[in-house]
Amino acid sequence: MRILSGIQPTGQFHLGNYLGALKHWVDLSTSGRSPEGRQDKGNDCFYPIVDLHALTTVHDAETLRKNTQEAQIAMLAMGFDPEKSVLFLQSQVPAHTELAWILTTLTPIGDLERMTQYKEKAAQVSKKEGINAGLLTYPTLMAADILLYNPEYVPVGEDQKQHLEFTRNLAEKFNKTYGEVFKLPKAMIQKETARVMSLQDPTQKMSKSLGAQHYIGLFEEEDSIRGKIKKAVTDSGNKIKYELREKPAISNLLAIYSGVSGKSIKDLEQEFLGKSYADFKSSLADAVMNQLRPIQKRYKELSQSPAEAAALFDKGATKANEVSQETMTLVRKKIGLNESLSR
Ligand code: AMP
Ligand code: TRP
Repeated sequence: MRILSGIQPTGQFHLGNYLGALKHWVDLSTSGRSPEGRQDKGNDCFYPIVDLHALTTVHDAETLRKNTQEAQIAMLAMGFDPEKSVLFLQSQVPAHTELAWILTTLTPIGDLERMTQYKEKAAQVSKKEGINAGLLTYPTLMAADILLYNPEYVPVGEDQKQHLEFTRNLAEKFNKTYGEVFKLPKAMIQKETARVMSLQDPTQKMSKSLGAQHYIGLFEEEDSIRGKIKKAVTDSGNKIKYELREKPAISNLLAIYSGVSGKSIKDLEQEFLGKSYADFKSSLADAVMNQLRPIQKRYKELSQSPAEAAALFDKGATKANEVSQETMTLVRKKIGLNESLSR
C-alpha cells in the first residue's frame, strides 16, 4: 500500500507532533499496518519534509536551514528507516511546485479562503506584514505533494482533514476535466491521539505557540519534562478516568500515557483505580521518558554528523524525483503542455 505524509520543519517537534503523526508514520513504514489489515512487510511510504510550506511563515535563511536539519535528524532518531521509506526534502523535487501551479489554476479562490488553517494563520499575521499569497495557496501545494505519488492513504492529525478533503475534490476535478490521472487519497486519522491537548489548557491542542508550559518538546531535558507533567492541570474530583466532557485534562493525560506506553486507556484506568493524581503523573512521566530517552540518545549521536543525515535525504529525493516525473509526464500530456526536450 502506498502511504504519503509531510511535515513542516518548524523547529523542535513536540509530543503532539509525535503521537498525533510521526510515531504512526514510523509504524506504517515498518509494520505494514493499514486499515485493511496487516501485511508481511512495511508499506510503500513517502515522507517529505515540506520546507516550501515552511516558507509561508519563515523568512530567515538561517532559521529555515537549522530547522530543516533538525527535522532530518529528528526523523532518523525516531526510527524512520531510509531503506524502508522515501525520506526527502520537498524543495529538492521540483515537480511539487510545478503540479501545485497547475492545480492552482483549477482551484476557486473561495475554496482556499474557506480553509480553517488559512483563517487561523491569516488572523495571526501582523497588519504590517500582511497575508502572503502562499498562506492562501498552501493547500494546492499540499495537494500536489500528495497527488504526485498517488498514495492510497495519508496519515495526518485531525486538523489536516479539511486539506485532505480539498485534495480529493481537486483530484476529482482534474480527472473530470482532463481524464483519469489521480487516485483519490484517503485520510488516515489515529483516533485517541489525533489531538494531543495542551498540558495547561485541555481545550486547546498542544502547540508551541501557546507557551513553554503547554507542550513537551521531544528533545527537552528530563527534568524539564517531569516538571511540566507535575504542573499539568487536572480536573476536579480524584478519579483517573477517561471522560472527555467531565475530565478533559485527565483524559488528555490518559491519551498521552496510552500513546507513549502502548497500553489501552481501559487498562490504564484499571491500573490507576484508587490511585492519586500525583501517583498517576509520576508514572506518566516515567512512561514518557521511557519512550523519549532512546530517541533523544539517537538524536544526540546523529547530530554529530548532520551531513550523513542530509545524504540519506538526497538519496530519497532522487527516488522521489523519479516517481514524480512519471506522474508529471502523464499530467503534461493530459493538459496539453509540450514535453520538455531536456527530460
Ligand atoms: P504542525 O507542527 O502543527 O505543522 O503539525 C505537524 C503534524 O503534527 C501534523 O500532522 C499535525 O496534524 C500533527 N499535530 C500537531 N499538533 C498536534 C497535536 N497537538 N495533537 C496531535 N497531532 C498534532
Ligand atoms: N499541511 C501539513 C501540516 O501542516 C503538512 C503537509 C504538507 C502535509 N504537505 C503534506 C501533510 C502532504 C500530509 C501530506 O501538518
